[in-house]
Amino acid sequence: MPSLNKLSLLSATLLGAALVGGTPGWKFSTKGHSGILALEAIVVSPTLVLMFDRATDDPLHTPDGNVAWGALWNLETNEPTAVKLQSDSFCASGSILSNGTMVSVGGNDPATEDLWLTNATNGLNALRLFGPCTDPAGVNCTIFEDINNVHLAENRWYPTTIRISDGSLMIMGGNHEATTFYNTAPSNTYEFFPSKDGGVPRHSPLLARTVNTIIYDIDTDTETLLPDLCVSPSVDAETIDSQAYSPNGQRVSNPFDGTAQLLPLYPPAYTPTILACGGSNKSDLTPTSELSSQDPALAQCSRITLTPEGIEQGWELDSMPQGRMMAEMIPLPNGQILIINGGQTGYAAYSSDGFLPGTEVGNSNADHPAFTPILYTPWAPLGSRMSQEGLPATDIPRLYHSTVTLTPQGNLWLAGSNPNANTTVFPPGVPGYSTEFRVETLDPPYMELPRPILSDVPQKIAFNENFTIGIDIPEGVSTSSIQVALVDLGFSTHAFHSSARVVFMNSNLSNDGKELTITAPPNNRVYPPGPGMFHLASESSNVL
Ligand SMILES: *[C@@H]1O[C@H](CO)[C@@H](O)[C@H](O)[C@H]1NC(C)=O
Ligand SMILES: *[C@@H]1O[C@H](CO)[C@@H](O)[C@H](O)[C@H]1NC(C)=O
Ligand SMILES: *[C@@H]1O[C@H](CO)[C@@H](O)[C@H](O)[C@H]1NC(C)=O
Ligand SMILES: *[C@@H]1O[C@H](CO)[C@@H](O)[C@H](O)[C@H]1NC(C)=O
Ligand SMILES: *[C@@H]1O[C@H](CO)[C@@H](O)[C@H](O)[C@H]1NC(C)=O
Ligand SMILES: *[C@@H]1O[C@H](CO)[C@@H](O)[C@H](O)[C@H]1NC(C)=O
Ligand SMILES: *[C@@H]1O[C@H](CO)[C@@H](O)[C@H](O)[C@H]1NC(C)=O
Repeated sequence: MPSLNKLSLLSATLLGAALVGGTPGWKFSTKGHSGILALEAIVVSPTLVLMFDRATDDPLHTPDGNVAWGALWNLETNEPTAVKLQSDSFCASGSILSNGTMVSVGGNDPATEDLWLTNATNGLNALRLFGPCTDPAGVNCTIFEDINNVHLAENRWYPTTIRISDGSLMIMGGNHEATTFYNTAPSNTYEFFPSKDGGVPRHSPLLARTVNTIIYDIDTDTETLLPDLCVSPSVDAETIDSQAYSPNGQRVSNPFDGTAQLLPLYPPAYTPTILACGGSNKSDLTPTSELSSQDPALAQCSRITLTPEGIEQGWELDSMPQGRMMAEMIPLPNGQILIINGGQTGYAAYSSDGFLPGTEVGNSNADHPAFTPILYTPWAPLGSRMSQEGLPATDIPRLYHSTVTLTPQGNLWLAGSNPNANTTVFPPGVPGYSTEFRVETLDPPYMELPRPILSDVPQKIAFNENFTIGIDIPEGVSTSSIQVALVDLGFSTHAFHSSARVVFMNSNLSNDGKELTITAPPNNRVYPPGPGMFHLASESSNVL
């Protein structure tokens, strides 16, 4: 591990400014063909997004002529380049270590389903290392895999991965094997990379408590769900199901994919508040035969502040303009949160055996795509935090296996959606959601405004220290209240954006308006050491 009191910066961008010369709007644009289905996506440099799919039948090929299931998207040329992988990255997670190396974690065993067209190896315990990549086009940037020597302690399909305060990755949960819907063989543990505790995973009572148990009938191949056996004897399953544990029975984790996000942190207190939105209020003891793609998703958002007083107050409830399954939340550099994508009905996953007969749309368990994003303003009074005013609608459904991320340039990048086993095209008139290869951007209004240029931005900054950068502010831009944010762009998969965070930093502009002195985040708990994007916004652009 490098020195823990440093954070390194990938790049610097100045966002926003006063609105000059009219009011530009938000705008969707299509940008080309992703080459592989972008089931997972992470920004790995100022110009590149790394995408992963399952090892399947994607159109893009590696230079040696084999089907690709990893690719770099070039934000400058809008083109994909295949990246060669050994193991199957289906439903992996990932994050960037403090030293700048991206790690893709876990995946699938392709032995049964994915072997049609690839030679992918079992990725259930895989660790795939990438970069740091310094070539703007990603030339010579490759994935390193050595499964015999570098691997997880436990098999994990669908793990969650975040960078923690010592710059390493905490890897949580997942399932030991592929399943169609509910968890069957959960990995109720945490482990770390680089490893801690001698490589022995830590048991997680949380994961153990929240997972169903089942009776499996071998003869009829059916499951009967049971109340959870792992719950502490003092808490019965009915209580677990009640408001005290999740307001109105809101479920936000797979396959009832709501989404959750840490709200931006502000000095001096950096008080953490969590927002969890959408998902479903169905009990996870519901047999799949009672679930339908037409079941309304929840509009509820639940927010809690993680201080003793906040926890005492409990969850504060709010409502999105519409219910959403598989929406994703993106913290923006001005402190707002964009809620985007997903379906208004149904559930995550596809072709789940035994779904209410005839209710799948093609293979999709979800329906009624949500085409218009929502802007959430954390500091607005309860009841007026959600807005869709001025936000455009796309016509591209982004359902299961879709991704979205903020870019280093400050706009949103959207790709993927594939509620099917492999790449699938439904002919016109045949119900179903085809594999989506169209890449889109969503430009906030500030993308059209003149933007200040930064200079002398340090490659690394130390916690709790002041540093000064050069700034060239275009005429007409208000300098009265500049906000400076350090942004972790996170890793997008399955409606979650792990590691994403925005930390605001105090700053002062010099009298001549040419230098900005900034106070770095105070410590490694406020911003886990590692790469970040440096964004500026003028406070007058709070609505962007
Ligand atoms: C970053 O750390 C990981 C884990 O120790 C290591 O495998 C990788 O090679 C390191 N990357 C660089 C660029 O040093
Ligand atoms: C699998 O590997 C063999 C040997 O390298 C190669 O000839 C073949 O084209 C590969 N198949 C696919 C689908 O990648
Ligand atoms: C990529 O690697 C090749 C072979 O080692 C080398 O000749 C080339 O200069 C490298 N290109 C870049 C941009 O690093
Ligand atoms: C569950 O959510 C649906 C859809 O929003 C709503 O109609 C229903 O009343 C909710 N049920 C409970 C028990 O909260
Ligand atoms: C796509 O998946 C189906 C099974 O779901 C399989 O029968 C078919 O062969 C696959 N197609 C390709 C091109 O691999
Ligand atoms: C950084 O600047 C602030 C405000 O001017 C000051 O209070 C603080 O002591 C400075 N910190 C360091 C480490 O110099
Ligand atoms: C900026 O100036 C204000 C007012 O003079 C002061 O309170 C603050 O600490 C300064 N911050 C930095 C980073 O210099």
